[in-house]
Amino acid sequence: MPRGGSARLPGVSAGDVGPDDRPSELRRAVAVSDRVSILFVGDVVGGLGRRTLLALLPGLRERLAPTFVVVNGENVAGGLGITPKLADDLFAAGIDVITLGNHSYHRREIYAYLDQTERILRPANYLRSQPGHGWCVVEREGVKLGVVNLSGNVFLRAGHPAFAEADAAVAALTKAGCDHILVDMHAEVTSEKVALGWHLDGRVTAVVGTHTHVPTADARVLPGGTAYITDVGMTGPRGGVIGVKKEQAIESLVTMMHVRFDTAEDDPWLNGVLISCSGPMRAQAIEQLLLPWTPPPA
Ligand code: FE2
Repeated sequence: MPRGGSARLPGVSAGDVGPDDRPSELRRAVAVSDRVSILFVGDVVGGLGRRTLLALLPGLRERLAPTFVVVNGENVAGGLGITPKLADDLFAAGIDVITLGNHSYHRREIYAYLDQTERILRPANYLRSQPGHGWCVVEREGVKLGVVNLSGNVFLRAGHPAFAEADAAVAALTKAGCDHILVDMHAEVTSEKVALGWHLDGRVTAVVGTHTHVPTADARVLPGGTAYITDVGMTGPRGGVIGVKKEQAIESLVTMMHVRFDTAEDDPWLNGVLISCSGPMRAQAIEQLLLPWTPPPA
């Protein structure tokens, strides 16, 4: 059934009903809710994270048929930042939107790309003078999805308060006619993310947390209809310390000296969530995806 223009109720064949005379708002609500889903993939770390995502994505598309795929890609370039080529590779794989975070500007060559490319986002609550933008709209099959990237204000550098910027972005995206809005809150502390979920409950389809690289066990749909999780987790090497080789991370903590960090290469997993939508700005379910990947023999 087409998602954008169908006038039929789900599960009712065209021969069962006459001309649809329901109010246009109701028709739109039914059409928009029909099997729309969003696959969000948590922080993709380094080359192993990229390979894990690209290897598992075709199977996830076949099994889950997500309408949209959104990926946090702030760690894809060797664990820190992103380059134009790596962003192009993700878009070529069919990723709809790339969100970032505190490592947005680690690679200088991405600055102009952030200004010029609509579907890659740095946190919306960064300064206007900083490269890039913080929200965008993508459309598939007649359904408009707004995506917002935010940075927490606790223990992270962001020029503006996340909550005020969230309100402004949601107002703009609602005015732009979005059917759904997904917010990626890239933040260090759990309390800031939990509070944002409650703050936006009923006004957006989903609030997902990123940055800590450790998935939390609190995925749920809040009472107002917003899907929420404090942290989606990491797509990359689980056999390290949030993406770094464990020996180096331990040495750093034992010696209290500077230690060079490299991206770990052991035990790759994909961490994500599938958000099933139930109507404009509403979710009916959020399913956590914690999937190991076995790389092919070298
Ligand atoms: Fe981060």
